[in-house]
Order: sequence, then C-alpha cells, then structure tokens
Amino acid sequence: MSTNDKRKRLLSKLSRNLMVSVPVMSVVAVTGFNTGLGPASGWIPEAAAAQGEAEASGEGEAEGYPEGEAEGKAEGEAEAEAEGEAEGEAEGEAEGEAEGEAEGGGSKAKRRELVSRPDNYQPYQGNVADLREKGKQLFNDKNLSSNGLACATCHVNGAGYNATFTEEYPHEVAMGKRDFGMDMVYLDEMVQICMVAPMATEPLEWSSEELAALTEYARMQQQEYIDDR
Ligand code: HEC
Repeated sequence: MSTNDKRKRLLSKLSRNLMVSVPVMSVVAVTGFNTGLGPASGWIPEAAAAQGEAEASGEGEAEGYPEGEAEGKAEGEAEAEAEGEAEGEAEGEAEGEAEGEAEGGGSKAKRRELVSRPDNYQPYQGNVADLREKGKQLFNDKNLSSNGLACATCHVNGAGYNATFTEEYPHEVAMGKRDFGMDMVYLDEMVQICMVAPMATEPLEWSSEELAALTEYARMQQQEYIDDR
C-alpha cells in the first residue's frame, strides 16, 4: 500500500471516530447561535465533564479515542487468561477492545502528528489582503468539512472560542491538549486541529494557500476577539 493510501485509511478511520463527537457539538452550536442565546462555549466544559465521567467509568477511551496501549494490554490479558479456563470470555473481551481501537483511528500520537507542523515547514507566502479575502470565503465554506459544518458555523461573530484565544501563539489550547496531546499549538496547527476534529476531515496541505488563508483570517478574528473583550 502506498503511503498515500495508508494516510487516507488513517484519516478515514480518524474522521469516523471523531465524528462521534460532532453531532453533539453542532447541536449545541446551532442552538447557541440560531436562538441568539450567546456563545456556544458552554459545550466545552460539558464535553470535558462528560469525558471525565466516561473515563472514570472506564468507557472513555473505548468510545472516544481508544489508545494503542489499551489494545496491547487487553490482548496481553486475554492471552494470559485464555491459557487458563476462561478462554471464551477472554477472547470476547479482547475482540471488543481491539475493535474499539480499529475504529478509533489510532493513538493520540498519530493524531498529534497529523496536526503538527512538519519538519522544514514552508508556509505559503501571499499577499495579506488576498489571503484574508480567500480565508473569509473558506471560513464560510461548508464543503471544507465532511459533516456539513463551516468554521463559521461555530465561530460566527467571535463565538465558540475560549479565553486562550486572546493569548499570543503558540499557547496551550484545551482541545489540543485533551484530544491531540499537544502542550502548545501554533495558529496554523489550531486551524488543522479544527479541520480534523470538529470538521471531521483531512488536515490541509501544509504549504497550501488554503491553510495560509485560513490562518491569516483566524489571525484577524483573534484581533477582533481581543478588541471586543
Ligand atoms: C463544531 C464546532 C467547530 C467548528 C466547525 C470549528 N471549530 Fe474552531 N473551535 C471550536 C472549539 C470548541 C474551540 C475551543 C477549543 C478550546 O479552547 O479547547 C475552537 C477554537 C478555535 C480557535 C482558537 C483556539 C485558541 O484558543 O487559541 C481557532 C483559531 C479556531 N477554532 C479555528 C477554526 C477554524 C479555522 C475552523 C474551520 C476550519 C474551525 N475552527 C471550525 C469548535 C469549532
């Protein structure tokens, strides 16, 4: 299989996995925006709390983002037990966990790699006014996602951001840390994070005009966000 095919497979697994959380987000976002009830940031603590609970009950990793380690551990245990008497049961468990992993699209480390600046990264260089214009179009383009959302669905008029958005990049962002294992994110990495997670699609080409345009537009949004506070 070519590297490209592998990448596609990983991405489609990843999107399927991450899509699980998107309907919740979009429902809250839509409620927040269409009814004029204010920013949709309310779902963030809720989502975090829900995830906390799920993890506490041991379901979190299996449902949301199963980890490679979990699979290894389950297999190890299953083998050990299978040698004894509880063969059927142990195999059943191991299969269940392994499926979770297969659908999960891999480890946090793989997700992090997808949205982290590559080595020798050369961002597209363009005229700032053109990039902003193009960025604005892309920001409103539902075709950019696999689930009918546009960036603007969540982020119209400065909605959907947390207080970290006021900080200079790179900085820590809760979603980057929780779902991608990143301590710090650059703005272009944040665009990629929102492409992969809420937009449930592939990250943009790192050297593309699209990424440069969305990043530049997001930079403008950041300034407006800071000015409005
Ligand atoms: C389904 C809703 C949703 C969609 C669609 C979405 N985002 Fe986000 N975005 C969020 C949430 C939630 C946060 C807050 C993350 C956090 O603070 O943990 C966020 C945060 C951000 C931030 C600021 C992060 C910070 O605090 O520094 C940027 C920039 C951003 N998104 C850009 C985009 C772009 C560009 C797109 C389209 C490619 C997009 N988003 C699509 C939900 C969404």
